[in-house]
Amino acid sequence: MVSFSSSSTPSFTVPTKTSPGTASVSFPRASESRKRGARMATVRAEAVDATISPRVSALRPSKTMAITDQATALRQAGVPVIGLAAGEPDFDTPTVIAEAGMNAIRDGATRYTPNAGTLELRKAICKKLQEENGLSYTPDQVLVSNGAKQCITQAVLAVCSPGDEVLIPAPYWVSYPEMARLAGATPVILPTSISDNYLLRPESLASVINENSRILILCSPSNPTGSVYPKELLEEIAAIVRKYPRLLVLSDEIYEHIIYQPAKHTSFASLPGMWERTLTVNGFSKAFAMTGWRLGYLAAPKHFVSACGKIQSQYTSGASSISQKAGLAALNLGYAGGEAVSTMVKAFQERRDYLVRSFGELSGVKISEPQVCLQYLLNIYNIYQESI
Ligand SMILES: Cc1ncc(COP(=O)(O)O)c(C=O)c1O
Repeated sequence: MVSFSSSSTPSFTVPTKTSPGTASVSFPRASESRKRGARMATVRAEAVDATISPRVSALRPSKTMAITDQATALRQAGVPVIGLAAGEPDFDTPTVIAEAGMNAIRDGATRYTPNAGTLELRKAICKKLQEENGLSYTPDQVLVSNGAKQCITQAVLAVCSPGDEVLIPAPYWVSYPEMARLAGATPVILPTSISDNYLLRPESLASVINENSRILILCSPSNPTGSVYPKELLEEIAAIVRKYPRLLVLSDEIYEHIIYQPAKHTSFASLPGMWERTLTVNGFSKAFAMTGWRLGYLAAPKHFVSACGKIQSQYTSGASSISQKAGLAALNLGYAGGEAVSTMVKAFQERRDYLVRSFGELSGVKISEPQVCLQYLLNIYNIYQESI
């Protein structure tokens, strides 16, 4: 029963099903409500069950989002802050892409799209995956979502059951373990070391796999380590994965274009026998400086894509129609995003070189030279030791 702090009349009385004629829920008339103002707004505390589901209670909020929001609030308050938490290019979205978004609005491409994304965009994604990654997919094996984050969450929800384990090489992008928890699965963290360039050792993987292992998440090029998995190492990992029919691989390739020569990106699904068990995730946020457009995609065998699509259809429906037009323009920029992307990558590489050189001159700081991405992982243990 809901009751307000004042019991004075007049009020509408709505009989409840449980106690007809006696128990009632009273709503003050609008005019009365205005007169009594704040007094009327006080709802008895015990009337509200503020319990949060265990699923959400167990969840940790994204630290990168929290720090980024804090930096934004400080900036708005006039404090000069440089946000280093979120992996976000500081370039604006290339003009041709932005124009395509604006034209989409002008041309009335402002309605719901198919849940899986427009056919033209999914066809363009298939073409890109074929030409740049050597992967063959048809449009019904592609699901466009509101960012790669949604793709990964849906994929984990779609294939993991409570008790399953999600294998995550560390250091990792902060959202992976929480996505596993959201699905009732257990994140299993696989340590790596700076001397291995933070790459997963095959023997470390082999030592943890059991019948509950459901997904291995591989992020290559990797946020936050800046490492890229060489093809030979991926092949060794594939040789282990192949022995476990229940084990799938979620290959997060969102940083594939932010890569510095001579590093080379290999899509895990392109390795022999891995297409069937790989969920490839990619998106537009990083390479095309489109973080705010919220556009990503999953490519996988149809049964996995359909399961993820089912979740999406009840959750958000298709991604923004405007962003999808912009995404199409991004893919039309040519191989690996053409000059628009290579200009940004060149600037990132110059900054990488500067930072690696500068930190290298500081005693007590260890840095592995990042070959990709926007992230740098510094080991400052020798300076701060117990205080961190
Ligand atoms: C490794 C990794 N994967 C996925 C994402 C999600 O990207 P988005 O949802 O913007 O497409 C991010 C964003 O920071 C990331 O760093």
